[in-house]
Amino acid sequence: MHPPKVFVTRRIPEKGLKVFKKECIVEVWPGDLPPTAEEVAAGVVGAAGILCLLTDRIDAAVMDAAGSGLKVISNYAVGYDNIDIAEATRRGIAVGNTPGVLTEATADHTFALLMAAARRVAEGDRQVRAGKWHTWEPMGLLGADIHGATLGLVGFGRIGRAVAKRAAGFGMRVLFYDPLLKGEAQPESNARPVDLAVLLAESDFVSVHVPLTVQTRRLFNQKTFNKMKHGAILVNTSRGGVVDQSALFDALKSGQLAAAGLDVTDPEPLPMDSPLLTLENLVITPHIASASRTTRERMAVMAAENLLAGLKGEKLPNCANPQVYRD
Ligand code: DGY
Repeated sequence: MHPPKVFVTRRIPEKGLKVFKKECIVEVWPGDLPPTAEEVAAGVVGAAGILCLLTDRIDAAVMDAAGSGLKVISNYAVGYDNIDIAEATRRGIAVGNTPGVLTEATADHTFALLMAAARRVAEGDRQVRAGKWHTWEPMGLLGADIHGATLGLVGFGRIGRAVAKRAAGFGMRVLFYDPLLKGEAQPESNARPVDLAVLLAESDFVSVHVPLTVQTRRLFNQKTFNKMKHGAILVNTSRGGVVDQSALFDALKSGQLAAAGLDVTDPEPLPMDSPLLTLENLVITPHIASASRTTRERMAVMAAENLLAGLKGEKLPNCANPQVYRD
């Protein structure tokens, strides 16, 4: 029997590739930029496994192109909104993701953005480089206090909880809203469950930790921003689609929001003519919350183990569509 073909849509850390290299015919997309939809479709022909990234749309057309031998789609990410899960499930294809291993790195980066937005770090850096550091100023670049402030976490899964722990160290009061937890307090947590309206009204910082779904798309819109405390700060390390960017621009421009820290946008990359880039009170990073060396290696190994299990017809250690195993 021939070894199965695997298409990997980008170079990932070698530690991951090693897991399945010897057992498969591996084709890795060589480009630094993602393959186009046509290139993905061409790459997956005859593949039993696809190891893909959040930048690849994996839909019915890709599954058709792969053919009936496709057994597993392994996403090199915890979020899987880039994959048509219903379609994969319907075809009996298992989908893997990488939860847990990127929790702490993402929580670290969330805090980096929160602090940078509150204390105007990027703005200060730009001023120094532009030769605008004239003297110590009593009223220059005044920001918001982090210690003692209220942090509202929208979404209280692994990453939300890890952010809450960090907030405890800063003496913050922490609220959370998560419809899946039905308003129940979580044991050993310093965060208190509240309704979304209360969270928005009382939080000095709101940080978003929900997956992108039909329910969460544009959850942060003009109405949401108007319900937030005047001068609050928004942080988003989840998915860009959760925020209406035009409403965010208005809220930042008008001062309804004092600042924002974004690691994700819609689309990605953010076009250079986006009005958001004209704002001083926005700190923005290029979707790097999980980008620590060890985290990306762990994600690679986890994605590889999911892939290998799927190729062998075994249950994926981390499966995004466990319903695929139901008869
Ligand atoms: C994910 O895994 O979903 C992040 O957005 C990238 O690490």
